[in-house]
Amino acid sequence: MSPIGIFDSGYGGLTILRQIRRLMPRYDYVYLGDNARAPYGTRSFEVVYEFTLQAVRRLFDMGCPLVILGCNTASAKALRSIQQNDLPKIDPTRRVLGVIRPTAEIIGKISKTRHVGIFATPGTIRSRTYDLEIAKLFPDIQVTGIACPMWVSLVENREYASPGADYFVKKRIDDLLTADPDIDAVILGCTHYPLLMDKIRTYMPGGIEIIPQGNYVAHSLQDYLANHPEMQQRISQGGTASFYTTEYPEQFNESASVFLDQPVEAHRITLS
Ligand code: DGL
Repeated sequence: MSPIGIFDSGYGGLTILRQIRRLMPRYDYVYLGDNARAPYGTRSFEVVYEFTLQAVRRLFDMGCPLVILGCNTASAKALRSIQQNDLPKIDPTRRVLGVIRPTAEIIGKISKTRHVGIFATPGTIRSRTYDLEIAKLFPDIQVTGIACPMWVSLVENREYASPGADYFVKKRIDDLLTADPDIDAVILGCTHYPLLMDKIRTYMPGGIEIIPQGNYVAHSLQDYLANHPEMQQRISQGGTASFYTTEYPEQFNESASVFLDQPVEAHRITLS
């Protein structure tokens, strides 16, 4: 088995896995959620890097030739160091890809006003990775980032559909529209946030497009594999998905089954 590995701090990466499997069901996948140490979004650069590298190494040990960081925070804070400093030492033939670049690439086609909002974790917003990536590709676009520190916790604690979530969702939407009233597109720059979609739709004014990442990341991966046959041929094609969590599996199974709409039986592992 040489599956595609997908990593997130917790449940968020399941929104990426879901879209990738929908587009490319024939490959094998391994999902790893570091639920015991989520959220990452309020942690320092050094800690996110250290935890992400541990997860990547573990997915490599499980046989993954390719790992997707299904987490914006890890993509913003750890991806470049892992690609440039660690991969050449660990195994230069393996690859680690993130979710920010594929998301930044599509925004030029979507925004007409050239004013775009980003909702993300405090870590992703502070890193300014979206601002930099979008500026490289579309210098005419003005980006306003809003950190949403509570949103990941609402999802990890399965409070995303509760009435209490309304307050935090509305508050950040208000912050964004106050900061830039000309926005016509908002990127959900955290893979947990699609699980809050119903609430976000409720409070976002009509005419503003809400952009979850999964579909774009999936298509970008498909293009990547088409352009890298040497990698594509290494990935096993049994159509399976297996799940690992650093927390107790019972709760992971319950939540992940709801998020993925299929039964999930996860195994517990520890990362170090
Ligand atoms: N899903 C992660 C992201 O995309 C959230 C991280 C967290 O705060 O744990 O940024």
